[in-house]
Parts: sequence; structure tokens; C-alpha cells
Amino acid sequence: MSIAPQAPAAPRRHRPVEVAPETWVIQATVGEGVAPQVVHMNSMVIRGAEPVVVDTGCPIHRDQYLEDLFGIVEPDDVRWVVISHDDPDHHGNLEAVMEACPNATMVSTWFLSERLGAEGLAVPPHRWRWLGDGDVLDAGDRRLALVRPPIYDSPTTRGVFDPETGVYWASDCYAAPVELATAFVAELDVDEWAEGFATFNLWNSPWVSLVDPEAFAVQCRRVEQLRPAVIASCHGPTIEAPQVQAAFDLLRRLPTTAAPPQPDQATLDQIVAALGGHPS
Ligand SMILES: [Fe+2]
Ligand SMILES: [Fe+2]
Repeated sequence: MSIAPQAPAAPRRHRPVEVAPETWVIQATVGEGVAPQVVHMNSMVIRGAEPVVVDTGCPIHRDQYLEDLFGIVEPDDVRWVVISHDDPDHHGNLEAVMEACPNATMVSTWFLSERLGAEGLAVPPHRWRWLGDGDVLDAGDRRLALVRPPIYDSPTTRGVFDPETGVYWASDCYAAPVELATAFVAELDVDEWAEGFATFNLWNSPWVSLVDPEAFAVQCRRVEQLRPAVIASCHGPTIEAPQVQAAFDLLRRLPTTAAPPQPDQATLDQIVAALGGHPS
């Protein structure tokens, strides 16, 4: 999902949170302190036999991101860097990571490499591995399944399921904005979570309103049948086991859920006025 232009002047520092053994969500946010809603810009790292970086955060968080990542895993140990899709909030620090991690291979697809190539991707082809939806990444002590989430905003999107821990990295899916940065969905009011969940997913993937609900449910079942114990999302708090079924239910309803209106020009006028108006 593209992000609002109002990154906070002094964003709060959010530390990585361990969501399963040897598995951390690296937290970051935009909007905190300057907007009514905060959107997470998370990524993940799995410190197994062959450590796996899953998405690489936003460029605006680079220093914080690299500090957090390399506080968990040594650069020389990183073996895989999985990019879930070609949006800048997911590959924003890819080249910095690949430069720091000489033994890492970028996991993309043909199409993902093509799309990043148009942006001047500096990672050479001999450091790529192309794995698409339905493929498996053998990371030594675990075989990570790449499974496209039901909601996505790029054709290159694949999620990552770790059968050793039951953690599913959902990329943009199962997300929800929050009032303040929040590590786990269990900390949220249930109704506010449901409202934010519907809003985010409908705005990020408006095509879901065109989809037959039964056809969409078939796609939802691909993730449901993995029986994830934890769903980690780039753009929301992590969903732990007690809330996983509720997340499945919320997602399946999307084709018949009305999307609320997005902020319009009047909102932008208010933002500009609050920032002191147009410089003359
Ligand atoms: Fe996206
Ligand atoms: Fe995203």
C-alpha cells in the first residue's frame, strides 16, 4: 500500500517483537503523532539455520531498520532475503541489506525482478532466486511455503508460511490501522480492529468488491488450510492464535463489505492549513 506523505518529525521508536521462536516482527510506523490513524510498516526475520529476512521496510526507516535487523542476526549469517512484492514499503532497504549481507540471496520472481529493474535494482542476477506462489524455499531447518494472500496490491505478491512455527507473513493482507503503534491485535478493541481491518483491506485492494464471494472464499481457504498459529502483517498488529479465526471471518466478508470514503480534497485543505498554509 502506498503511504501517506506525513511521516512524523520524531517518530516513536518501536522495538522488534518475538512472535514465535526465532521469529521477530521488526516494527515501524507512519503517521504517529501527526495523523488520526497510524499504519505499521513492519517486516520480519527468521533466525533459523539459514536466516531469512522477510521484506525490508521503508527507506524512511533505514537506520532504525538496519539497527533492529542486525541486532537480531549477524549480516554474514543472512542467507535469504524474501521480497513479498515490489512496493517500496517492502523492498525499501533491499539494496542496503544485500550490500551488508554478502552471503544473502534475494528471493523474487521473474516479474518482481522485472518491476524492480525498472527502478534501477542494483542486485545482480547471480544473487537472485525466483520463487513464485506455490513454491517452497528450503532454508535448511525449515521449508518455507510461498503462498499468495487473498488480498494484495501487486501481481508479484507471495506470503511466507513457516511450518516450523506456524507463522504466516501476509504481506499487505490481514492489516489494520491503529490509533497508536500496537504489537498484537489482542491489545485492540475488537470493533475498532474490525472497522480498521475492513477499511485498510478494501482501500488497498478495491478489486475485491468485484469478486464473487464464493470465489474469494476459495482463495481465503488456501491460507486457512495452512492453519497458521500467527499471522504477521506488514501493516498491522500481529494476529495471534485466539484472533486468527476472527481474522479469517473478517477477510471472507470483504466482497460484500462497503468501502468507506477516502479522505478528499477538503481533508487535504485542512492538512495544508494545519501545516501553515501554502508558502507564498
Ligand atoms: Fe503493497
Ligand atoms: Fe505494503
